[in-house]
Amino acid sequence: MKNIAIFASGNGSNFEAIAKAVKSGEINANISLLVCDKPEAKVTSRAGRLSVPIFVCDSKDYPNRAAHESRILSALEDAGVEFIVLAGYMRIVGKTLLDTFEGRIINIHPSMLPDFPGLDAIEKAFSADVKQTGVTIHYIDSGVDTGPIVVQEMIDILPEDTLESLEARVHEVEHRLYVKVLKDLL
Ligand code: GRF
Repeated sequence: MKNIAIFASGNGSNFEAIAKAVKSGEINANISLLVCDKPEAKVTSRAGRLSVPIFVCDSKDYPNRAAHESRILSALEDAGVEFIVLAGYMRIVGKTLLDTFEGRIINIHPSMLPDFPGLDAIEKAFSADVKQTGVTIHYIDSGVDTGPIVVQEMIDILPEDTLESLEARVHEVEHRLYVKVLKDLL
């Protein structure tokens, strides 16, 4: 059984979907650590409730990306982490982590990449007057939302959609798809 770490910065609904699937045995893995860069993030209370060990590492406490990631790297090594799942981690992953984990870091993005990379992807698709958007799960490389794609699922943008209703459907697909991909991979 692989030791995984989940990285998240905010709400943590994807974290929770994955953690519950691990607890039920649907995903064959052990969540050794939640890595969170925001001390106040809601994901930390979800992790507490689900008894997942939490490592909060605020980038403000470090002079640069390399120093921040070195500290994270040593926590990952201490916890025996073999695979990293990014789930709403709002920082670019740099060389320090990539050199050790490249090919073993997966990410979820709420658009059909390469369309709408970066922040606010659901809102960008909603405002762009396109008929479809989607969800992409991909391995990461040194770019922003680039790297080999594992799977994509298309979502229709309906004439009656509001940003909120579209966001809700995107998140539903994310939770189901991320669990399925991790189940297959791990
Ligand atoms: C998700 O839409 C994910 O695709 C993106 O950030 C969001 C995180 O949501 N990378 P949550 O924190 O898992 O609720």
